[in-house]
Amino acid sequence: MKNFNNKRGLMKKIIFLITIFLLGITLTVTAFGVDKKTLIVYFSLPEGSDPNNLSIEGENSTVVIDGKVLGNTEYMAKIIQENTGADIYRIVPKIPYDISNHRNLTNFAKEEQKNNARPEIANKIIDVSQYDTLFIGYPIWWADLPMILYTFFDNVDLSGKTIIPFGTHGGSGFAGTVETIKKLESKAKVSDNGRIISRNAIANSEKNIINWLENLGYKK
Ligand SMILES: Cc1cc2nc3c(=O)[nH]c(=O)nc-3n(C[C@H](O)[C@H](O)[C@H](O)COP(=O)(O)O)c2cc1C
Repeated sequence: MKNFNNKRGLMKKIIFLITIFLLGITLTVTAFGVDKKTLIVYFSLPEGSDPNNLSIEGENSTVVIDGKVLGNTEYMAKIIQENTGADIYRIVPKIPYDISNHRNLTNFAKEEQKNNARPEIANKIIDVSQYDTLFIGYPIWWADLPMILYTFFDNVDLSGKTIIPFGTHGGSGFAGTVETIKKLESKAKVSDNGRIISRNAIANSEKNIINWLENLGYKK
């Protein structure tokens, strides 16, 4: 009987120690943010949707994967999603951009910029409160963020969150947009290690994107 009680006492001690151990791990994980949630937000405007009938501008602004036409920034967002497991939210304009004529599109976007416009977002703006890190992606438009990104930033509170900018361009690189985001979201931590990829390199950029995610520590 005594022996049995001793065994029971030992078992209790072991269970107690295991519980403390597991509690310790949980607290450590929470404290060091290992369980933090990540969101990918992006805007992208592929200038065409038929892989067999793309204009030059269409080819410039798209990547074709398995017969599906993706915008350049959309492609980047997809690779980031696949390699981080993050949630993803696409910014969709309420009034679709007319992509039938590139010159008209660029003129239209120039006007939006001149007027400091805030194009409406069609889909419900995602509740960002549950996320700690946001990858935010966009194409460079007239050496700036597309104005609909300003609409997004106006409508979310990113205080205390980490923002990692990414995007694609036709020659101007980030063109000061990272500094712009820092001004718009002055209470966020905006990473200087964002990634912008030339549209000429985008189709072969998967490794580049994965290496970048690895270096950032976000590769799953
Ligand atoms: C309205 C408009 C303005 C643009 N302005 C610039 C620019 O100032 N600098 C630049 O490098 N690329 C510029 N581009 C090229 C895009 O940044 C590039 O094609 C990008 O990869 C498109 O990405 P998306 O397919 O995700 O929309 C512009 C494209 C458009 C449609």
